[in-house]
Amino acid sequence: MKITDSIKYIGVDDHEIDLFEGQFDVPNGMAYNSYIIIDEKIAVMDSVDAHFGEQWLSNLKNELSDRKPDYLVVQHMEMDHSANIKKFAESYPEAKIVSSKMAFVMMKSYFGTDFADRQLVVAEGSKLELGKHTLNFIAAPNVHWPEVIFTYESSEKVLFSADAFGKFGANDYDDPEGWACEARRYYFGIVGKFGANVQAVLKKAAALEINTLAPLHGPVLSGDDAKESLRLYDIWSSYGVETEGVCVLYTSVYGNTKQAAEKFAEILKVKGCPKVAISDLAREDTYECVEDAFRYGKLVLATTTYNGSVFPIMREFIEHLTERGYQNRKIGFIENGSWAPMAAKNMATMFESCKNLTFCESKATIKIAMNEETNAQLEKLAEEILK
Ligand SMILES: [Fe+2]
Ligand SMILES: [Fe+2]
Repeated sequence: MKITDSIKYIGVDDHEIDLFEGQFDVPNGMAYNSYIIIDEKIAVMDSVDAHFGEQWLSNLKNELSDRKPDYLVVQHMEMDHSANIKKFAESYPEAKIVSSKMAFVMMKSYFGTDFADRQLVVAEGSKLELGKHTLNFIAAPNVHWPEVIFTYESSEKVLFSADAFGKFGANDYDDPEGWACEARRYYFGIVGKFGANVQAVLKKAAALEINTLAPLHGPVLSGDDAKESLRLYDIWSSYGVETEGVCVLYTSVYGNTKQAAEKFAEILKVKGCPKVAISDLAREDTYECVEDAFRYGKLVLATTTYNGSVFPIMREFIEHLTERGYQNRKIGFIENGSWAPMAAKNMATMFESCKNLTFCESKATIKIAMNEETNAQLEKLAEEILK
């Protein structure tokens, strides 16, 4: 994969992996991106996952001809990118390792060495001249680890953006859903909590002319694709509403709560709701549901009272939202409880730490099964959430 005449892709695709970072389902694999910038000096941008060291070094060798790299730039120390730093350092003993101060501290813990005799510490505003190309370093703390740096190559206007703008899926898989679907699941799953930090680095990026985004996962984005990705990242990281509509998420023990959620979705459609995204939390991919909860401006949760509180899968799901700083949304509840319904009250309490949430005054309460009264409550809740 060629990025420009002098910037080449040397990353790898992983089709063996089942769960990325031990929890994200990646049915179409995963890509660990790495790049080489060839000029008077040669810079390599990041390494790859531990399982692909030999393949990566061979990709690198193919692009080097008979030359040797001068620098390895380490933008992010998470193991899917850092695992082969030591292997690289041993293969090319003259190359310098370029990274943030904090990344070298992490290298010491990870490899037992921080490459003291060959390290080049960079920070916000540092520059590294390669010849025609210049690397400009941008601090990107907590996007999504503290040591992260971005690198802007100013002659060809390429922003190497670490994990930002990454997505799930290998690069040899042509995703029919395009970039956004799996990039959104990646963003809210992995980076979602760090919206303010992403906003801070997007402000710095706004001052740059960007032709190409070169992330550490997924495709390289150029032209209109890059613009669209920047636009979506701005919405996502400011907890804005990407799509008008209502996200309805439910759990159901015997099918009655499911019936209520589906009935509610129908009522919303009849009332002209532009989009209703409904999922069963127990059966749909959790992070598809997390991304939907952040994508739409309105959320309705339907669940059962359980042990005097909230059904465990729903309880865990709400924690996924609150620990990611869920905010700026309108929320409604549908609860089921055969003798002492408590779920709605307890769900609302779980959101107490969140900013800028509006709760519907009406709720729907089912005692075992739906009846005319619950239908009327669903109608009322639909009216209120759509208001
Ligand atoms: Fe990461
Ligand atoms: Fe990563």
